[in-house]
Amino acid sequence: MNIEPLTPHLGAQIDGFDLSDLSGGRADQLEEMFYTHRVLVFRNQELDRDAHKAVGRVFGELHVHPSKKAFGIKGDPEIFKVRAEADTVKVNGGRWHMDVSCDENPPTGSILRLLELPPYGGDTVFCDMSRAFETLSGPMQRMLTELDARHDGQRDLRWYGLTPDPGQTYPSWVHPVVTAHPVSGRPVLFVNEGFTEDIVDMSYDESRAILAMLFDHVARNPGLQCRATWEPGTVVMWDNRAVQHFAVHDYAPHPRLGERVSVVGKGSPIAWGRDRSTA
Ligand code: SIN
Repeated sequence: MNIEPLTPHLGAQIDGFDLSDLSGGRADQLEEMFYTHRVLVFRNQELDRDAHKAVGRVFGELHVHPSKKAFGIKGDPEIFKVRAEADTVKVNGGRWHMDVSCDENPPTGSILRLLELPPYGGDTVFCDMSRAFETLSGPMQRMLTELDARHDGQRDLRWYGLTPDPGQTYPSWVHPVVTAHPVSGRPVLFVNEGFTEDIVDMSYDESRAILAMLFDHVARNPGLQCRATWEPGTVVMWDNRAVQHFAVHDYAPHPRLGERVSVVGKGSPIAWGRDRSTA
């Protein structure tokens, strides 16, 4: 097996590791690589749906996306389809986000494989949210550790131009703005443009200004990011409590079709740095 870092701080391409065989300590090896590099790009994989789900179960129980619950989409509930057609304007994940951060217990991670690739483009870009926090000034870091923000699934729906059916609900939850990563304990800047609606206990203008600055910090700093390219047989997985991602839609009118499996988080995010003795 060969592990080739994608950048000095985030992501690795893994060659020579067969995801369809997780026997004999290989699941532990996979978990260790996942939490070390936080974005893993595997080449030359041959996974069917069951094998795809088995990879997800290494990390925990499989997640069912709220859109399945809200809209009663039929089919395999643990498979979330990402699909862009020739005329799709807003593709799944086409702005910076963490998957379903509006859940009380957002997913630990996601695993994506593409079934149909465009001839070029369609990369997925990731942002290291620990580094995003660590590259802010000390005064800004100290202020953010005191704050909580509301993440709302309706914000995500609105972006796609969707509304839930009458009587159906979509999650909304308040999380700390700076969380402790559940495995490493590292601080993570836990706000994202896809789901974070406002900062609680602040005026609309204050909240809007701070969130806009933080969303810009993610989007305008390539030094925080790494980029996964796709080939037939590529599988990409990411630590959803540590990174945000963005699906680049630069390949229209070609279609792109994928299936994602996500894993239920191991608990609600906890605040980092509020106890001054550990900050
Ligand atoms: C997503 O999970 O947000 C989609 C990522 C992608 O299609 O590259």
